[in-house]
Amino acid sequence: MENRLIIYNIKTIYTSINKPPVRGKLMSEVEVINNPYIVIENDKIIKISTGDYKVDKTPKTKIYDANQKIMIPGLVDSHTHLVFGGSREHEFSKKIAGVPYLDILAEGGGILNTVKATKKASFEELYNKAKKSLDEMLLFGVTSVEVKSGYGLDLETEIKQLKVAKELNKNHQIDIYSTYLGAHALPKEYKNKRNEYVQKVVDDLEIIKQEKLADYVDVFCETGVFNAKETKSILSAAKKLGFKLRVHTDEIDSIGGTKVSIDLKAKTIDHLMAITDEDITALSKSNTIANLLPSTSFFLNKEYAPARKLIDSGVALAISSDYNPGSTPSENFQLTMQISGNKLMMLPEEILTAATINPAYSLDISKKIGSIEEGKIADLLLLDCNNLDYFIYHYGINHTYSVFKNGKLVVDKRRIVGE
Ligand code: NIG
Ligand code: FE
Repeated sequence: MENRLIIYNIKTIYTSINKPPVRGKLMSEVEVINNPYIVIENDKIIKISTGDYKVDKTPKTKIYDANQKIMIPGLVDSHTHLVFGGSREHEFSKKIAGVPYLDILAEGGGILNTVKATKKASFEELYNKAKKSLDEMLLFGVTSVEVKSGYGLDLETEIKQLKVAKELNKNHQIDIYSTYLGAHALPKEYKNKRNEYVQKVVDDLEIIKQEKLADYVDVFCETGVFNAKETKSILSAAKKLGFKLRVHTDEIDSIGGTKVSIDLKAKTIDHLMAITDEDITALSKSNTIANLLPSTSFFLNKEYAPARKLIDSGVALAISSDYNPGSTPSENFQLTMQISGNKLMMLPEEILTAATINPAYSLDISKKIGSIEEGKIADLLLLDCNNLDYFIYHYGINHTYSVFKNGKLVVDKRRIVGE
């Protein structure tokens, strides 16, 4: 006999049901189902219906009263730097005084500060710290997350970060998808040996592949970090080895990384505050997802990515938290969604699509998750809101009521089950 769970007394389900990548106008098309109930068998949704539900009186049937809360798919945060040592609050006042992000990095601070702390931290320290953040994310309704390395910049520490992510994926309710970001910054020791470092990142790819530590490779393509040519050589080598690509690009300046990434069929290009009109056109003709990170613009007090222009041009958008110790020290993905309304001028329906099915597509999991449909995995989020607009409008708080992961209740009335 299968394990059954019936979730009843749901006020409304909101879900994108379009085939991903959901682009342009279609992003605002969301299915709305009033007064539904859901039947889950093991980890799958087997029925979504409205009206009276018939309780199957087998001992293995559980019933959950949704108490007239609204339901959306479990959130997919497809760009985070979850695993790192230390924190950078000591750089916060510099930032407030107006010292630019890249100047802090050039002085050996920023990412390089976190590199020092991550090298020093033990596996257990990194694990426990990242687990605490994952718990926070789960409480905010995130059920799948992408996690990058990039705070080692030497093979040993990069592997340590990726192994922490792998272990957390085994033990934590949230599913983790890992990305190798050896090209996050140029390590100090390589200051006058750029080419050697790029070659080292390329050489290390094989080991990451052999040890099955990551499915994706990322590069920070930016002025003063890695240029378009270097980005291309790393990404091309990665692609040859069978890695999928995600790329930090056009955050501050547009230096050609976007074109390189689209040509190489990257799954996502991320940030895009400085994207050119020409690149927007190329992006609209591709299946690459524009992964916008508005919490980063908020924290760095920078301009926001041109979300409206991207949507109006027919691009498929995702939004992600970019959780990291420098530019975005917050696990609150609901806040990212709310900033997307306020600052990216995205509609609540577009935001929902960008936080569920499109990021799932970018992680190659959209056949199983990212929407609430019969046959899909039951990753579900109940929100203590009357409607979707209210969720985006009432900002800064946690609206989670409960979370289901793989058909199991993992957060109940804003508490992690079993803790
Ligand atoms: O996505 N831009 C590059 N990487 C991160 C920041 C990392 C850090 O400052 O530690 C980002 O914003
Ligand atoms: Fe990032």
